[in-house]
Amino acid sequence: MLNKIGLIGGGNIGGVLAQELFRRNLAKTVALMDVKGPDLAKGKCLDIAEGSPIIGTDVRYAAGKDYDVLQGADLVINTAGVPRTKRPDGTIPTREELLATNLQITDQVAEGIRRYCPDAIVLSIANPLDAIVYRLYQKLHPPKHKLMGMAGELDSARYRYFVAQAAGVSVENVVAMVLGGHGDDMVPIRSCCRIAGMPATKFVDEKTLTDIETRTRKAGGEVIGMLGVGSAFVSPALAALEMVEAIVFDKKKIIATCALLEGEYGVQGLFVGVPVVLGRNGVEKIIQLDLTPEEKAAFEKSVAAVKKTADEVLAVA
Ligand code: APR
Repeated sequence: MLNKIGLIGGGNIGGVLAQELFRRNLAKTVALMDVKGPDLAKGKCLDIAEGSPIIGTDVRYAAGKDYDVLQGADLVINTAGVPRTKRPDGTIPTREELLATNLQITDQVAEGIRRYCPDAIVLSIANPLDAIVYRLYQKLHPPKHKLMGMAGELDSARYRYFVAQAAGVSVENVVAMVLGGHGDDMVPIRSCCRIAGMPATKFVDEKTLTDIETRTRKAGGEVIGMLGVGSAFVSPALAALEMVEAIVFDKKKIIATCALLEGEYGVQGLFVGVPVVLGRNGVEKIIQLDLTPEEKAAFEKSVAAVKKTADEVLAVA
């Protein structure tokens, strides 16, 4: 259990996170901050706290519209930002199209973290994922191990779910890894996809796996199209909680994480999804995978897309 976990943004993802942080007793105090009035953050926390006798948790909370509630947090999760939503004409925007709006919000978030919990480990979820993490880095310059983004764990979970369905086996039997940027060029790593330790191709034919990988890349949009308003929020929150628990309990768990690369995978100075060891210090190690030539080419294409958005971030003062 940490002393204090801060949560910025108490919307769909933040709401599930707040509830689960209480339920799983991950911190003595959960601090929720949201700008939405009259006082969304306080209302959400009071609602959860009033249920706490039923689930049996004594987690305390701080909540409000000001960043000062984050004072002294050990870990901060950032969900502040507009989500993708289906347009009236039925089309679905890319995550990159959120950049202008979410950059402005991110600058406020960075200032809040800088003032009230500059030493916190920061886990960011807002989209476009890799670019927003890059912006936080640009504004905060934290040590490399203290800043990361959640995307790969979610994309991998989607891949695992689809593979389990196709193979007719438990989701618990499927391990998989999706790397690169959290955009349409993300890279499902087939050579890492295993079912109870065996290659996935033993259970699912190549064509079906290719279709699954295409579906995985577009899985966020598939949900958006059905919801009508907003984007997926339960699975993103659960994926972030997997990372939070790895940190809180110092698990040394290998999780696909958006982390700063400084030469690893031949990438310099960009935040990209790679396998990392997550523990109490945050990103404790970056694992270098041996990719097949096809996977390597796909990874490089995804990195090029991340760089393009990062360059757009750099262009905004
Ligand atoms: N500070 C704090 N909270 C803010 C700020 C800010 N400057 N600006 C907006 N918010 C809050 C909103 O008031 C809202 O309650 O962020 C919350 C976002 O919640 P939702 O709109 O429900 O979005 P959600 O589905 O939770 O997604 C949040 O994560 O996966 C990404 O694409 C998604 O960028 C989006 C983010």
